Amino acid sequence: MENTIIWESPSNIALIKYWGKYGIQLPCNPSLSMSLKQSVSRFELTYSPIKAGEKSLIYLFEGKENPVFEKKVSKFIDSISNDLPCLNKYKLKISSSNTFPHSAGIASSASAMSALALCLCSMQEAIDEMEMPRDYFYQKASRIARLGSGSASRSLFGKYAIWGEMEGLPQSSNVFAIPFTAPVHPIFDQMQDAILMIDSSPKKVSSTVGHALMKSHPYADARFQQARTNMSELLVVLEKGDFENFTRIVENEALSLHALMMNSNPSYTLLKPNTLEAIERIRDFRSQSKLPVTFTLDAGPNIHLLYPKQYKNEVIAFINSELTELLEEGKFIQDGMGNGPQRIK
Ligand code: DP6
Repeated sequence: MENTIIWESPSNIALIKYWGKYGIQLPCNPSLSMSLKQSVSRFELTYSPIKAGEKSLIYLFEGKENPVFEKKVSKFIDSISNDLPCLNKYKLKISSSNTFPHSAGIASSASAMSALALCLCSMQEAIDEMEMPRDYFYQKASRIARLGSGSASRSLFGKYAIWGEMEGLPQSSNVFAIPFTAPVHPIFDQMQDAILMIDSSPKKVSSTVGHALMKSHPYADARFQQARTNMSELLVVLEKGDFENFTRIVENEALSLHALMMNSNPSYTLLKPNTLEAIERIRDFRSQSKLPVTFTLDAGPNIHLLYPKQYKNEVIAFINSELTELLEEGKFIQDGMGNGPQRIK
């Protein structure tokens, strides 16, 4: 008796950054992200009752064995077997793939861990022959995804999602993310994200190491307070459609993240000369064209260029004429806000 479940789940880009954690994957400050549309992970899970002596997990990434990812998946599954008791009685065949290249500046742990959490929660439902109420299902999947990777907790929801306790938002939690359900101004409703590939070499600092740097960071408390202030201002900005303050907050978050890494001990500089040059050109373009365009950064050198959909032609023309020479092989990925995960089977 074999059964297969397939989910696709998106990556997300944080506008208010999660940087610093404590306890079991709990964030030191609330974060807010936008789920992407094209950049997704697809997980196929086949399960059947386990027999004595059988291997409990077979994992393939893009059709091939991948011991590094397999170890991560296996550790994650072990860590959640109390939450999903079915895991002890079944063997799992998991095969996954991404629609985006590795090291493209797109968080694959967010899309992967959220897709896997969804497959495992659907498996529990199928075995129990009982559907959980949908809100509860996504909340549970978000909590489980968080244990795999903090930012993955936000990928369970489309559009904008918030993870971490936030004053004035009584439903918010450190344990799972919630969708941002307040009305959002139309200018922020179909946000585009052109991911500019400055450098695709592997990350110099893993998130685990990065978050740990905040434990003894002299600016830690100020940073967590800054994130809370930026978050409460951003929530108002999203409702009002105030792109000028959106730009101020989002760029402040991106550059604060990198400033914190630069003056951590040890110190990391993840920005490349071309990242800084591109930022200058984006800011010049904005002041000359008066178009609403801004950027954010992940823990790497690549730039996420954010703008409302109605300016797509002008922004793509700007990328082609002024930014491609700064990009690795002139590459960028055109993505935008998406509607969250999708069950395929
Ligand atoms: C800079 O979620 O990758 O992208 O919980 O250790 O897996 P772990 O960290 P991770 O950290 C993401 C950091 C960030 C900001 C963000 O997405 O909020």
